[in-house]
Amino acid sequence: MSNVLIIGPPGSGKGTQAGRIADHLGIVPVSTGDIFRAHVKSESPLGMEAKIYMEAGDFVPHGVTNRMVRTRLNEADVSNGFLLDGYPRTRAQVDYLDQILADSGQRIDAVLQVTAVDEELVRRLLIRAQEAGRSDDTEVVIRHRLDLYHEQTEAMVAIYADRGILARVNGMGAVGEVTERMLLALGTVTPENLEARASVAQRLAGGTLV
Ligand code: AP5
Ligand code: MG
Repeated sequence: MSNVLIIGPPGSGKGTQAGRIADHLGIVPVSTGDIFRAHVKSESPLGMEAKIYMEAGDFVPHGVTNRMVRTRLNEADVSNGFLLDGYPRTRAQVDYLDQILADSGQRIDAVLQVTAVDEELVRRLLIRAQEAGRSDDTEVVIRHRLDLYHEQTEAMVAIYADRGILARVNGMGAVGEVTERMLLALGTVTPENLEARASVAQRLAGGTLV
């Protein structure tokens, strides 16, 4: 399994789990949020453009984000696989990612959607605000990021459910427990096992959580 997506609301543990799962699979974690923050820090033109959207909790315009992702996924270190955190977030980004991968003869092998209740997400991010001071971790901006997730990203994952490669994972509980659930879920969407994929798709259509 080489190309994996992790999708989930702010604070659900995408970044935390991406590092652990990528280590386990021997692939490279790629976070659009982290790339944007590095650009903001270095005050690059891309960072200057992205900053205003990030601070408001809005999506950075697709043109900017898509170009950045295409560049990153064409770099040599991800040629054996990547775990993409934070992209795609909209149907338009799903289409663009399909194009990027088709151009290099690749595909997405599995998609992890991590779920948690909103109040737990707000609680986690307010704790992080005190520890790490991320500029978008104020309660108003956190709730706006959550709204965007529920309005645009949550519906988009149906595309991957239809393809039979989506695994929904309960993100509540201890970090290690969530990692174990994810590894278990990935085992059930191994591309080689088409029968298992079909049955996973069926269970997911019924909304069963792993
Ligand atoms: P991004 O950086 O991706 O932010 P986000 O989606 O809001 O998610 P977070 O990084 O806040 O949370 P996470 O799910 O990674 O959780 P984490 O592991 O850190 O994006 C930032 C911005 O960039 C966007 O708002 C947008 O402006 C722009 N952007 C990015 N991608 C874009 C795109 N595709 N299109 C357009 N714009 C884009 O965990 C959170 C906290 O909880 C941590 O403190 C962690 O230690 C703790 N924690 C984790 N797991 C647990 C657990 N199980 N129990 C208790 N605490 C836990
Ligand atoms: Mg993150």
